[in-house]
Amino acid sequence: MRGFVLGVVLTILMLAAGGYLFVRGGGVSLATTAPPLPLEKTVARMALHASIGNAGDQKDPLPFDDTNMLAGVNTYKEHCAVCHNAPGLPHTAISNGMFPPPPRLFEKEDMVTDDAEGVTYWKVTHGIRLSGMPGFERTLSDTQRWQVTMLVAHADKLSPAVQAAFAH
Ligand code: HEC
Repeated sequence: MRGFVLGVVLTILMLAAGGYLFVRGGGVSLATTAPPLPLEKTVARMALHASIGNAGDQKDPLPFDDTNMLAGVNTYKEHCAVCHNAPGLPHTAISNGMFPPPPRLFEKEDMVTDDAEGVTYWKVTHGIRLSGMPGFERTLSDTQRWQVTMLVAHADKLSPAVQAAFAH
């Protein structure tokens, strides 16, 4: 029994020492240009999913109209476009230099139009740690966060007035 306990303790110590040496030796590069770490995406997805919980059940309390969409454009241009880019504008150097790369919320392959609005609202409110995505709970009002959520949730359904608002 004592030998078994000693074996377990030694194994744990060796794993801890191995992990320490791996990180110390540069095994976990924090450069944005380094390839993803083994399982990085899987673990991050799992943790994010668990953090969001059932926030997806929450519905946007605001009516879907151009007034709210246009207000969303203002918020987006000021607080989001630097990382997520905007329709018709060149990609920013900031967005090109980040890891993970900020999704381009108005380009087909990255749109969040299929996500529950409550999930997007949760991300805008709380942010995503270690990714660069800020939480706006303390800096944007509840209304502003729902308006910008409405905008990105309908990125494939922009009225001409909303499209024009991105241009100036
Ligand atoms: C400093 C850069 C930065 C700013 C500013 C920023 N984001 Fe993000 N955002 C990110 C990054 C990076 C991710 C990707 C996180 C990940 O991969 O887990 C992200 C993820 C998201 C997602 C999730 C996308 C998906 O595919 O699940 C949404 C939605 C989002 N941001 C919306 C916004 C909105 C709306 C604003 C403005 C109010 C904003 N972001 C401002 C960097 C930023």
